[in-house]
Amino acid sequence: MTPETQSIEARRICALAPIIPVLVIKDLDHAVPLARALVAGGLPVLEVTLRTPCALEAIRAMAEVPGGVVGAGTLLTPADVKAAKAAGARFGVSPGLTEPLVKACEAEGLPLLPGCVTASEVMQAMDWGYSMLKFFPAESSGGAAAVKALGGPLPQVGFCPTGGISLKNARDYLILPNVLCAGGSWVAPEAMMIEGDWAGIEALAAEAAALPR
Ligand code: 3PG
Repeated sequence: MTPETQSIEARRICALAPIIPVLVIKDLDHAVPLARALVAGGLPVLEVTLRTPCALEAIRAMAEVPGGVVGAGTLLTPADVKAAKAAGARFGVSPGLTEPLVKACEAEGLPLLPGCVTASEVMQAMDWGYSMLKFFPAESSGGAAAVKALGGPLPQVGFCPTGGISLKNARDYLILPNVLCAGGSWVAPEAMMIEGDWAGIEALAAEAAALPR
């Protein structure tokens, strides 16, 4: 899969909903009801971070939930990419951008949202053929004003800002022409997962899905 084809697919996925839930799943039993609740609330694109022992099994289980598009987050190495693809991830997200990672995603055919902040990082990504990027960590890297400013000289690049985004500030990003969607963990609080409050999570998802962009 060429980087250009990957970016087209990444843009298609990012256009599906205003928010991509960033999920940290500690209990495999939470995976399927969580995915069902988020999809039912209107958020079909789900990023499962590879930060917990059951993350790959969670991706495998959630990939079967109708209507969902499940990807893997926190991809750091080519081994992560291989494992994510084998588990059924349809896309990948990384906090940063490295050559081994992008080469692995190309070899595995996994559309990647690589993390970038500075103009130089964005230009490196463009040089490698990537035009749909994660802006991370969004709030502490200048927030919506920084994303807007990058759109001046680099308007052809689309962003999914992530990191410190909530219902309160998501609109600031989503109104920007170079923002397709944003990522955030607020729609799946750990306490609600432990309580099994899937209706509550569905309501949070519905609120996020209704955000204008
Ligand atoms: C992450 O990878 O944890 C994301 O940046 C999520 O950030 P958030 O918890 O601030 O939404």
